[in-house]
Amino acid sequence: MAKIGVFDSGIGGLSVVRAIKKEMPGHRIIFKNDAEHVPYGTRSIEEIYGFTKPIIRQLVDEGCDVIVIACNTVTTNLISRLREDFDAPFIGMEPMVKPAAEASLSGIIAVCATPRTLQSKRYDWLKQKFAPGVNVLEPDCSDWMLMIESNKLDREKIAKTIGEVCEAGADQIVLGCTHFHWIEELIKQAADGRAKVLQPETPVITQLNSVLQQLGRAL
Ligand code: DGL
Repeated sequence: MAKIGVFDSGIGGLSVVRAIKKEMPGHRIIFKNDAEHVPYGTRSIEEIYGFTKPIIRQLVDEGCDVIVIACNTVTTNLISRLREDFDAPFIGMEPMVKPAAEASLSGIIAVCATPRTLQSKRYDWLKQKFAPGVNVLEPDCSDWMLMIESNKLDREKIAKTIGEVCEAGADQIVLGCTHFHWIEELIKQAADGRAKVLQPETPVITQLNSVLQQLGRAL
């Protein structure tokens, strides 16, 4: 049995915890979030770093064998710094630009993420490296995260945003914020077969299994 630490600013990470529990039962999961400072997606990188570092410290001190950063905002902006700060294996979650670009027939994809993720150098690098000839739409999802966190969904507004990217030709929609995993069904319904919806829980679990194998902690 391994101790798996999972971190997110808010309840997005719980969708990842749910997926890990389902696919990898028997391990101990320690989930931590930052209810006091959520949302992160509109804050500065230094502010996010200041909030995140002590929480990761707690996960390390509690003996986690591996830490999943179940937050695209933290992964895209800070995972290299956290790797320098802590001698622990990290698994990040970031927008699935590469698989979306590879799968797209229309050459148009949409990435739904927080402003801080969309402005990150890592995300920019992902686009340049893996989607050079692809038109990447970045719809305004800046208020979705709070809608999900407060359980006050404006379903029509979300469906309208998704409808618009589909009408613009996107055939792949990337969920680049773990909060959006909770509304995956709503997004799929709004896409109505016009676009495939991608999110990284399955690849993260594959990576988690391989890290635990390497550590000799797989079940
Ligand atoms: N779940 C976080 C992510 O994946 C949300 C960030 C926020 O707190 O705004 O980006």
